Amino acid sequence: MINTQQLKKVYDNGFEAVKNLSLHVHKGDIYGFLGPNGAGKTTTIRMLIGLIEPTSGELEVSNLNVKKNKEEIKKHIGVLPESHGYYEWMTGEEYLQFFSALHKLDKKQRKAKVAEVLDLVSLTSKANVKISQYSRGMRQRLGIARTLIHDPEIIFLDEPTLGLDPQGQKDIENILLNLNKVNGVTIFITSHLLKDIEKICNRVAIVKTGTLMEEDSVQSLLDKYKKEIHKEDLSLEDVFFHLTSDRKEEQ
Ligand SMILES: Nc1ncnc2c1ncn2[C@@H]1O[C@H](COP(=O)(O)OP(=O)(O)OP(=O)(O)O)[C@@H](O)[C@H]1O
Ligand SMILES: [Mg+2]
Repeated sequence: MINTQQLKKVYDNGFEAVKNLSLHVHKGDIYGFLGPNGAGKTTTIRMLIGLIEPTSGELEVSNLNVKKNKEEIKKHIGVLPESHGYYEWMTGEEYLQFFSALHKLDKKQRKAKVAEVLDLVSLTSKANVKISQYSRGMRQRLGIARTLIHDPEIIFLDEPTLGLDPQGQKDIENILLNLNKVNGVTIFITSHLLKDIEKICNRVAIVKTGTLMEEDSVQSLLDKYKKEIHKEDLSLEDVFFHLTSDRKEEQ
């Protein structure tokens, strides 16, 4: 679903945010893209969705070369960015109608599609409430609904649970598990909530200062690092700290 080879991003000021990253996301994965602040996660997502140009390297999303198919790619992917605004004056339904129009959905299909995605994120009862009255959890769920409006094969979610209370986090997890299982959506997610990532992701990549430290199934990583980290009930969080803990290097 996603293949990158030696992906690199050097920003205009000379800062190398992503270094030779080779990632492999399979169809049907819930793929956790993990790393400390500043590791290059958002930069990588921006390259994968065609928003910024890589300095070098190859990248393919949905079997399409991203550099050559910037417009076509948009039909295959949904994106919930790290920070984004909502149109406060709209209701949830109007907001999704607006995005269904942007994606040029057939007018007749729009209403049904909006109802379907509202249901997927459990917002049907709030469809006619103004977004200004939505809680942060409801906003994030509406954001996820927005990514689904054109039936993408893969969605990119950059910290969708940031700032949510435990119930809000759990709601998002359940929505994602359901979307993946029932609708077959491949999910590329970044989050700092490693316990949740361990629960919902089948595969993860761990990056540190733009460099890939590991990419594997959660179980393989736990098995591999059991030999190095001597700890009962080893968790993904332990592996993460083991691979990324030298904070001096990051800053
Ligand atoms: N436009 C830019 N110009 C120069 N440097 C940038 C730019 N955008 C990001 N950076 C730097 O690139 C590095 C990676 O940033 P990025 O936002 O990709 O990290 P991240 O892994 O998403 O972090 P976080 O967990 O905080 O969201 C950081 O050091 C950041 O300061
Ligand atoms: Mg980020």
